Amino acid sequence: MSIAIYPGSFDPITNGHKDIIDRASRVFDKVVVSVLENPRKVPLFSIEERVEMLKIVSQNYDNVEVDSFQGLLIEYARQKNAKIIVKGLRAISDFEFEFQMALINRKLDSRVETMFMMTNSRYSYLSSSIVKEVGLFGGDICELVPNEVYNIIMRRIRETRTAQS
Ligand code: PNS
Repeated sequence: MSIAIYPGSFDPITNGHKDIIDRASRVFDKVVVSVLENPRKVPLFSIEERVEMLKIVSQNYDNVEVDSFQGLLIEYARQKNAKIIVKGLRAISDFEFEFQMALINRKLDSRVETMFMMTNSRYSYLSSSIVKEVGLFGGDICELVPNEVYNIIMRRIRETRTAQS
């Protein structure tokens, strides 16, 4: 059985993430979408909120599980019995960092393979940071995030804009 981990910050999930979840679910027997609990970053959404949004978006996929993790990804992959890490690649600019991550993860455990999925070209410009920047400056993020979590994301953006004004 092929078990793949799709790790990330997902702060918040974008249409680009959803596209990778959809495609990965058709390639692997099981996909574990997992949110990194990263104490070094100040997120817009809590871990619980990010997990909840991922669960809403992936509720129609029988082979997708949503989870969170701390520490090294490779340790987490071992715990989950996963032999694959799946990552989305948007542009050459992603490549250098992702290449470095793939190599260090292989050095830590060569039994776990990192596999990249090229982004759908419609989403090549898209990232969680872009969503936050557009939203927090009052722009329309309707086409950037999944419809089913749009209201949740907009509520937090409005709260943050109000708190900042
Ligand atoms: O969505 P992001 O922020 O680009 O995701 C980055 C993530 C979570 C995939 C990456 O930071 C990660 O795997 N962190 C876990 C720590 C780790 O294993 N680092 C690699 C060895 S230094």
